[in-house]
Amino acid sequence: MIAPSILSADFARLGEEAAAVARGDADGAAGGADWLHVDVMDAHFVPNLTIGLPVVQSLRAATDIPLDCHLMIEDPDRWAPGYAEAGARNVTVHVEAAHDPVMLARNLRAAGALAGLSIKPNTPLDPYVELLAHYDTLLVMSVEPGFGGQSFIPEVLDKVRAARRSIDTGHLRLLVEIDGGINADTIEQAAEAGVDCFVAGSAVYGADDPGRAVEALRDSVRRTNPHRWSS
Ligand code: DX5
Ligand code: ZN
Repeated sequence: MIAPSILSADFARLGEEAAAVARGDADGAAGGADWLHVDVMDAHFVPNLTIGLPVVQSLRAATDIPLDCHLMIEDPDRWAPGYAEAGARNVTVHVEAAHDPVMLARNLRAAGALAGLSIKPNTPLDPYVELLAHYDTLLVMSVEPGFGGQSFIPEVLDKVRAARRSIDTGHLRLLVEIDGGINADTIEQAAEAGVDCFVAGSAVYGADDPGRAVEALRDSVRRTNPHRWSS
């Protein structure tokens, strides 16, 4: 799955920017984005401020692409369920910010969304493996959260590999997402480590043709493991 991040899009034209990745080519024959990644920042959990619930509600009405809301905010226990109620497909909270992550996951699912848990680059995975049994997606941050356009941190792939092993041995059922610095040069190593869903901001919205950029990323993933991605 490819999830373009609108953090690098033109915020005055979000509907058009979503439409630009909805279809992989002009005929609509090929792919397009699987999810649209929405980075919500509160200037407290991260040193940056972006958009919040009203924009997500408007985007939900403006596009059919499922919304993947990544909440880089404090007190997600209070705020995250509103994004699920607004119709987001997946709502991801940070383990470093959640007070009662089990209850939070339950609330997100009850509101009709997938529940996602994110870990920053320096946060280890091991202490949270049991917690992940309550979640549907794991978002491994491959840059420090807060800004687009940063360089990929390859060391986080060890956490992807560990999660992949737990999934492949039947100990976890999870979709593994990676977020930060994903582009033509880095996506293949992430795919080889076992990522299911690739978030890309600047590599998509910094390109002349965002729709084509999505398909180019997808082609790179397929090349790494044609068997796994053939179905
Ligand atoms: C960073 C955000 C990312 C960001 C990725 O805090 O969570 O989703 O948009 O941007 P790129 O792909 O440019 O690193
Ligand atoms: Zn993100």
